[in-house]
Order: sequence, then structure tokens, then C-alpha cells
Amino acid sequence: MSKPIPQPQETFLIGNVKDVDPDFFVESLQRLQELYGEIFRLTFFKDNVIVVSSHELINFVCDESKFDKKVAAAISELRNAGGDGLFTAHTSEPNWKLAHKILMPAFGPQAIRDMFPSMMDIASQLILRWERFHGEEIDVCDNLTRLTLDTIALCSFNYRFNSFYHSKMHRFVEAMINVLMESGRRSQRLSLQNTLMVTTTRWYYNEIAHLHNLCDEIVKERRENPNDVKDLLNRMIHGKDPDSGYQLSDENIRYQMLTFLVAGHETTSGLLSFALYYLLKNPHTLQKAQAEVDQYDEIKIDTLNKLKYIDAVLKETLRLQPTAPGFILQSKEDRVVLPGGYEIRKDDSIIVLLHKLHRDPKIWDQPEEFIPERMLNGGYENLPANAWKPFGNGQRGCIGRPFAWQESLLTIALILKHFNLEFVDPSYNLRIKQTLTIKPEGFKIRVRSRQQIDISLRKDVKQLENTFEKAKSNDTRNLRPMAILFGSNSGSCQSFAETLASEAPLYGYNATVSTLDSAVGSLPLDQPVIIITASYEGKPCENAKQFVAYLESKPKLEGVNYGIFGAGHHDWVKTYQKIPLYIDQLLENAGGQRIIELGEGDAGGDFYGAFESWKENLFQMLRKGTGEENVISEEKLSIEVVNSKRNFGQITMDIGFVLENKILVQANEIVPTIRHLEIKLPKGQTYHTGDYLAILPSNPIEIVYRVLKRFNLATDTQIRILSSTSTFFPTNNPISVFDILSGYVELSQPISKKQVEILAILCKNEKEQEQLLRLGENLYETEVLNKRASILDVLELYPSCELSFAQYLRMLPSLRVRQYSISSTPLWNAEVVTLTIDILNTPALSGVGQHIGVASNYLGNLKEGDRISCAVRTSNARFHPPEDTKIPMVLIAAGTGIAPFRGFIQERAAQLVCGRKVGPTVLYYGCRSQDDNLYFDELDQWSKLGAVKLRIVFSRQATSEKRYVQDLLWEDRDEIKNLYCNGARFYTCGSARKVGASVKTCFIKIIQDVKQCDEEEASKILEEISQDRYSVDVFT
Ligand SMILES: Cc1cc2nc3c(=O)[nH]c(=O)nc-3n(C[C@H](O)[C@H](O)[C@H](O)COP(=O)(O)OP(=O)(O)OC[C@H]3O[C@@H](n4cnc5c(N)ncnc54)[C@H](O)[C@@H]3O)c2cc1C
Ligand code: HEM
Ligand SMILES: Cc1cc2nc3c(=O)[nH]c(=O)nc-3n(C[C@H](O)[C@H](O)[C@H](O)COP(=O)(O)O)c2cc1C
Repeated sequence: MSKPIPQPQETFLIGNVKDVDPDFFVESLQRLQELYGEIFRLTFFKDNVIVVSSHELINFVCDESKFDKKVAAAISELRNAGGDGLFTAHTSEPNWKLAHKILMPAFGPQAIRDMFPSMMDIASQLILRWERFHGEEIDVCDNLTRLTLDTIALCSFNYRFNSFYHSKMHRFVEAMINVLMESGRRSQRLSLQNTLMVTTTRWYYNEIAHLHNLCDEIVKERRENPNDVKDLLNRMIHGKDPDSGYQLSDENIRYQMLTFLVAGHETTSGLLSFALYYLLKNPHTLQKAQAEVDQYDEIKIDTLNKLKYIDAVLKETLRLQPTAPGFILQSKEDRVVLPGGYEIRKDDSIIVLLHKLHRDPKIWDQPEEFIPERMLNGGYENLPANAWKPFGNGQRGCIGRPFAWQESLLTIALILKHFNLEFVDPSYNLRIKQTLTIKPEGFKIRVRSRQQIDISLRKDVKQLENTFEKAKSNDTRNLRPMAILFGSNSGSCQSFAETLASEAPLYGYNATVSTLDSAVGSLPLDQPVIIITASYEGKPCENAKQFVAYLESKPKLEGVNYGIFGAGHHDWVKTYQKIPLYIDQLLENAGGQRIIELGEGDAGGDFYGAFESWKENLFQMLRKGTGEENVISEEKLSIEVVNSKRNFGQITMDIGFVLENKILVQANEIVPTIRHLEIKLPKGQTYHTGDYLAILPSNPIEIVYRVLKRFNLATDTQIRILSSTSTFFPTNNPISVFDILSGYVELSQPISKKQVEILAILCKNEKEQEQLLRLGENLYETEVLNKRASILDVLELYPSCELSFAQYLRMLPSLRVRQYSISSTPLWNAEVVTLTIDILNTPALSGVGQHIGVASNYLGNLKEGDRISCAVRTSNARFHPPEDTKIPMVLIAAGTGIAPFRGFIQERAAQLVCGRKVGPTVLYYGCRSQDDNLYFDELDQWSKLGAVKLRIVFSRQATSEKRYVQDLLWEDRDEIKNLYCNGARFYTCGSARKVGASVKTCFIKIIQDVKQCDEEEASKILEEISQDRYSVDVFT
């Protein structure tokens, strides 16, 4: 008996139409695949669609003796435009065979080789255009679409769209996108519905006519002015089937032309865009690819087949993002039984879903990772049959593959040879735009010319000098240049960099601020290079990844004078300050000269104080021997506030909407208020289970009012901030002090030692001054740092301190974004996330009032319908449920650390409901009391469903003894061992200090017990396991 194919619940008459979004058809199928697995059925009205995605099934249906291409769904509608052109023709149609025979030679090796000069012609236009865009934002897809459209038109029909010479893309592209989108939508409607939509239908056929007219004009022009170029058009006009002598009709030529224009440029520009995205996201691969092209002075036709690494990059890109995301087949026989016992019929459309085939864990190791190396040294050649199918199947596979490959190798090689690349928004996560093909949406880069580094640097300096000459207050003509480079995810290092730059003129320097990645290959020799950067799980910040990879490539950097300040947090014991230290070492190895010893700021200690002291030392060192050592001066206190945009740690924030904000737990003596928020993501954003949401908050109104009161300002007092150097404040236009205080600065950071000293100097009352001086010295740690006293706290205690408002602003760091684990799964809703928030509102350690956490209270106070600046951020690559749903998971959380795991379990529950096999999931959850046993009802339901086994302990429950998750883990050590042996993945989430550290110690103990080894060996084993089986996410 055959096995039933899983299918989502059908709706009367329309079947599963509502289960897919026609504008995100492929993403809908991918989501359904995650729910239903390797095969599922959908019914659209009367049509049956079977979606297959595992290698085993796809390998079976790719057997051409049993299956053939089916012209169905959107492709069938596309026949309205493409008729019986190669792509939309049925295999049985005579014109398919005829055109196939005539055109195959046009894509043979020599023919493609002959197209190289035309390809180079268009690629050079792109390079020239990017040279002109040096340092400016470039919309990658837009530019590459211009390139591929112009290339296919020039190579095939000797026609020039001249896309690089117009600001708007050619009208052909708009009409083509409209036709593709509408064909997709039409395939989701009944034909009667389509007929009734008179206006849309008329518009659709007008757009098709526009496409046809262009093709007809080109043919007409060629017939009137014949030439002997061996391009596709001439082959179509003059070519004959050698056996029958038949030729293509003019109508069919028009269809073929349209087919080539459409099929030949969308897919390739997608491939190129995705390739650049992955290279940028994986700087080591970028380094390797760049090193490969650097071996050749010039990119010639014969260079291309030597570019093995770039070839692997393109293959790996198409594995992860097959730009034609699937193809449709049908059985040649009435009934066929697929592996697994599923029976299908001849009429069924079989959709081969490439995204999932290319991630089948049975074939691909670390399927989500971009690893071009897997395609090298026989890796590609030894892949099982039909494991990599971006170009389709058999005789109906892509005829243009060699064309696309040559064009892509050439374009990537030229881009890497000419430019260093950088994300405009380093936290950009892939968003997909879908027509018939897929492309990255909103992907923007900046490029810097590699050949002309010297010239452009000089140009920059000149421009800056001009600006400075115009500046009113400071005569900066005699300032010396300084380059400040930062790596920063959440904004503190960027804020330090900007502070340093804004003070530099006081010490005789004119500083520029930019990301570390922007300095790849262009570290200046004629000025001090100051680096301020952090580490994340021992890895570089998003905008420093390329820089680190660059240093690892061992460049020669003699003559570079540098100083580094590292931001870190001591909770990351093993990787504390790892990246700043690493950069320091690499720069030294490369021949750089240290101006000053590495400075260390601990975000869990006197973070700002450490930076202040290091900054003072830096300027002292720089002025040594210049006779200007002691000019810290009055100027430093007389503030001049400065220019440019608000600092969000380089993240592009969009607007989301609050759909719900409810209390999960009402605060009591032992538990804070905990809230559950539902947020509609900004348009176009989506997420993976385990990702974060970055939030840009506003300061609590209570604190803003305290500041206004201390400085005797009204809420609507308007100020204008003027400056001669860069800053995160908005400058030149009037803005209210209320807006500045709410949205631009951190108000509750502990005051630094240096700042205490400054306040002491400004005290008019001698007694207060004395007290403050003591506070800045031996009492600093106990009375200030440990109590986290802010500048405001101190000012309120010492009223005689005459600090001006401008000076106060100057002392404040810029407001940071905060991150929150997403506590839902996209399988529940791909456009909406939930957050689980501890609202921080406790008596301040300073003893002055309450400590009101900025972001948690901001979120806590939002109402339904409120707008919120936010952006999805991908989490650590391993902090997601495994691709193979059968792998067991052990989830360990305390408090709101449950957040990501609610998403993990929700995902497995959804998969279970849809009939998928899921491995055991055990949740170890530490709560204080029954009150903060978050999401208990839901978890209980999911546990009854079999999606999770709950192991919950309480540390403050009056009726039971005090117990923590590690106690339970130890008790369950035999089960933990079994789960480990069955391939389980382990995840911990919560505070680093509390749950992170104690769970780790417990695991070491368990390993000691199982292996009968000492602690050192057990720690080593745990470290090895942590490479891919144990992931920790902490909320410090
Ligand atoms: C990857 C990641 C995921 C996260 N996920 C979540 C999540 O799902 N849910 C969640 O609730 N949080 C989560 N967090 C934590 C979150 O980002 C914020 O750090 C937290 O909400 C506090 O931010 P805040 O702006 O409200 O507080 P802030 O204004 O930043 O105040 C916090 C600071 O105040 C200090 N402080 C604490 N108590 C006092 C006191 N009594 N007196 C003086 N100072 C004090 C702390 O040491 C800390 O430095 C996550 C963090 C990370 C890094
Ligand atoms: C990276 C770039 C490309 C990708 C990923 C790609 C992918 C594909 C796929 C998957 C198919 C099979 C579709 C199906 O079975 O329904 C296909 C067919 C086709 N492609 Fe491509 N393609 C690319 C570039 C090109 C180029 C540059 C051209 C033209 C110069 C082209 C022309 C065609 C044609 C004409 C067909 C239909 C072939 C037939 O059925 O006889 N493609 N392509
Ligand atoms: C998820 C996460 C991981 C971190 N990993 C490390 C680390 O490995 N080593 C370290 O010294 N600090 C680590 N930190 C602390 C940050 O480096 C520190 O907060 C720094 O100030 C951040 O700088 P930024 O705001 O400029 O991004 C980590 C912080 C977070 C949130």
C-alpha cells in the first residue's frame, strides 16, 4: 500500500491556495517544507502539486526516462509572452527540438569564447561606473542587472541597452518584471478570475506587447542591415536544422529572443549579487578570491579557467541561493511509486525545491555555511548525482550555463581586482526578493578602488581641509591628520571613536573616523592609525571581519604607526579582548609600530574611565617631543559640540509595529515584571528561529526630567549644535533638549574617574570639591563603580558643581541599540516576532532612586500600534535548531533565557503537528518561583504533544528546596549521556555569569564522571564539543 503524502488542511474549492503567498511563492514552499518535510502535496483548485526536496526523492525524479519537464503554473502563464520559445515550450513541441538543435552550437565553447570581448566591454562599463562611485552607496542588484541585461543583449543581438548611461533602468526591465510577477499571480487564480480582471489583463498584455515590440524591432533592424557576426540572432535567422532543413519562423525568433533576454539576465545578476554578499559576509573567502585574481596582471579569456577558487565561490553561491529556485517535472507513466512508498500520478506537477535539496544534511556538511572549499579538489566532481541542480535537469537543463559562467567569472574577477568592498550596513542580513528568480533585496555596498588608494586618500584629506578652512571656530589648517578606525556592533566603540575624533583638534589633530573594513589594503603611513574595536564570542565585529582577514593574509605594514583600544567584557573569560589583542599582534607581525600599549575597557567595569585614561595617554604620547605635552587645557572643558548623523552602530533601522504588549509576570519581591511583545517586522524583513531583534530605544522620561531639572532647562528648550569635527549629535538645525536627551545619549552609565576629577575642578564649594576628589581616587571603585553612579547622580549630590549643559552632553556616550532574543519561530509567522522581556526597574545601587533600564522600560511602555525602530540580526551560526529535525536537542535556560527556546520548541511542535518526525527535545528550565515559570501553559501543551520534555526547577519556591538547572542536569547525567550519544545538540541561554558559568562547570563534572578523567581533560573535551554541538547565548 502506498504511503499518504502529507498535505496542509485544504479549504473548500480552492484547496491550499491560502497556504502560499504568490509574491513569496518559493519562501512559502520552503516554510511548508520545514513543517511537512521532504515531500508534501498542495492542491490549487483542481491541480495537484507535489513538492519534493530531499536528495533521495529528487535523484529519483531526475531520471529522464521516467520524468520530463512540465510547463505548468507560472511558466505555463509565461507562454503568453514566451510562446514556444525554448524555456516555455513543451518538450513534445516541434519548435523546442528545432530551436534546441539550431541553438546548441551557439553555446558551445568556441562561440562563448568569441563573446569575451563583448562581455569585457560591458563589464568595463561597470568598473568605470564604480570607480566614479568611490565610497558612495551602490545598489548591488540594480548595477548587476544593468550589467547582465546589457551583456546578453550585446552578445546575442549586438544590441546596446546602454543601461550604465541612464539613471533609470531600461523600460524593458520594468515590463519584464511586471510580466513575471503577474504570470505568477495568474497561475494562482482560476482562469475565469483572470478573465474577469479586465483592467489587469489588459495591462498585462500591454506589457507583453512592449517586450515583443523591442524584440521585433531588433529583428527588423538586422534584416534591414544584415551582417555576418556569428551571434545568436544571425544563427536564428539563418540557421537550419541539418537533418530537416527547417528554419525558425519570425514569431519563434521573437519568442527565443525574449527567452534569452529574460532567462539570460535575471538569474545571472542574482548569482553575481549573492556571490558578492557571501564573499562580504565571509571575509576569509573574500581574501582568498582576491588573492587568486591578484596573481594575474590582467583578466584575459585564458585567465578565467584558472580561477578555481572563484569558480568554487560561484558554485557554492548557487548551492545556497539557486537563483532559479526550482523546476517542475511530471511523470511519463500513469502511476509511479517514489522512494518511501509515495504514489504519484501523471497529472501531478512535481516541484523540485532546490533550496532544500542543496541543504540536505545527508549530502552537505554544515549545510547553512558558505564554504567554497567543499567544491574544490574533487569535492564538486564527487558529489552524488543530482545533488547540485541549479541549472535544471537533463535535456531541458539550462542552455545558457556556459554563457552565465564565463560572464560571472569575468565580472567577479574584475570587481575583486579593482575594488575593496564593504557593506553599507554590516549587519545586513539577506532578504530575498522573488519574481520567477530570486535576488538579494536592499543589499548595498561601498567600493574603494585598490589601484588608486594613494590618490583617493589624498583627495579625502584635501576635501576635509577645505571643510575645515570654512569652519568658524577652529583654525585647523595646521592640524596633523589622524585615522580613527572602529569595529563595533552595538555602538560603544563607534562612540569612543567619535569622541576621540571630536577632541582630536584640541590636541593638534584632524581625525577621520571610519570602519576597520573600509581600511582594508589602505592603512595610511603618514598619520597615526587609531583602532578601537570589540570582540563577539572571540570573533570580530561585523564591520571588522574583513580587516582581520586582511591582516591574517600577512600584508607588509612597515611604517604604519598604530594604537589600539579594545572594548570587551570580563564575562567572556576565554575570549576577553581577543580581537583587539589579535589585531595588535597581527599588526606587530606585519611590521607596524605601536604608538601606545593596548588599552583595555571592560564593559563590566570602569569602561568609560579606562577609555578616558588611555585617550589622555595617547595624546601625551603623540605630543611627546613636540613641546606641546601639557595642553589638555581649559579648551577641553569648554565644549564645542559637533556634526553628522545619529549613531546606531552602523545598523540600518527600519520601522516595525507593536501588535501586542502583555504582562506575563507582575513584579513582586523576588521577580521583576516580565512582558511578552508581538512585533510586526519592518517590511521585507524575516528571520530564523534563534535570531535577535535589535532595538533602538529612548531614555526613560523620569531620567530625562531629572537632567532637565538639574540644568534648569524646559522640555521645549531648543538648541543648535555646531561643530567642526564629527559626532553622533545632529548638528546645525534646532532641536529640543528633550529630543537630544531621550534619543541620542546614554544617561545612566557610571561616571568615569576622569569625569569625577573634572566635576571636582568645577565645584565652587570647597567641601564638595574635597569630597569629589576623594571619590575620584581611592573611593572610586566602591562608591562609584560598584554602585554604578552616573554623572547625573553625582551632579545631584554636588550642587555647587558648575558643569554647563554642553559640557555635560559632551561627556555622555551615544545611545546604544539593545538586542533581544526572538521568542517565536517563522513557522508560526514569518513576519511577526515575539520578545520576552525582563523589565529592569529596581532600586539603584547608588541608593538614589530607581535604576530604570533604558530599552526594557521603553519596550514595556509601548502600546499596540506604536512604531518601533528595529532590525533582525542573525545569531551565532550554531544557535539555531539543527536542519535535520530528528537530531535531539537539550535546551538549558534560566529566567527570560527561555526566550529563544520558546521559538525552538514552537518550531518542533509545528513540525510535529504537520506529521514530521522530530527528535527528542528536553528543556531544563530554572525559574525563581511558580510565578515566573514563563509560558507554562503553552509548554505544557507542547509537552503533551511530544514536542518537548520539561525539566523545571525553582530557586525561590517557598514549598520546595532551592534548586538550579545544574542540579537537575547532574541528576539526569545518564540521560544527558544517552542524548549526547544519540547526536544531541546542547544550547544554553541566560546570564553569562549565572547560568552560563554554572552549566559549564556541571558539564565538565559530567564529562569527568563519564570519562573518568580530570577537570583539565574534561574542559578540553567540552571545548571540542562546543565547536559544533554546544552553543551558548548570553544576555550580559
Ligand atoms: C544576545 C542578547 C539577547 C538578549 N535577549 C534578551 C531577552 O530575550 N530578554 C531580555 O529581557 N533581555 C535580553 N537581553 C538583554 C537586553 O539586551 C538588555 O541588556 C536588557 O534588557 C537591559 O537593557 P536596558 O536598556 O533595559 O537596561 P540598561 O539601561 O542598559 O541597564 C542595564 C545596566 O544597568 C546595570 N544595572 C543593573 N541593575 C542596576 C541597579 N540596580 N543599579 C544600577 N545599575 C544597574 C547593569 O549592570 C547594566 O549594565 C539580551 C542581550 C543580548 C546581548
Ligand atoms: C546563473 C545563471 C542561470 C541559472 C541559475 C539558470 C537556470 C536555469 C534552469 C534551472 C533552467 C531549467 C528550467 C526548467 O526546467 O524549467 C534553465 C533553462 C534555460 N536557461 Fe538558464 N540559467 C541561467 C543563465 C542562463 C543564461 C545566461 C541563458 C541565456 C543565455 C539561459 C537560458 C536558458 C534557456 C533558453 C533555458 C531553457 C532550455 C530548454 O528548456 O531548452 N539561462 N536555466
Ligand atoms: C553576544 C556577545 C558576545 C561577546 N563576546 C565577547 C568576547 O568574546 N570577548 C570580549 O572581550 N567581550 C565580548 N563581549 C562584550 C563586548 O565586546 C562589549 O560589550 C563591547 O563593548 C561591545 O562593543 P560595541 O558596542 O562597539 O559592539 C560580547 C558581548 C556580547 C553581547
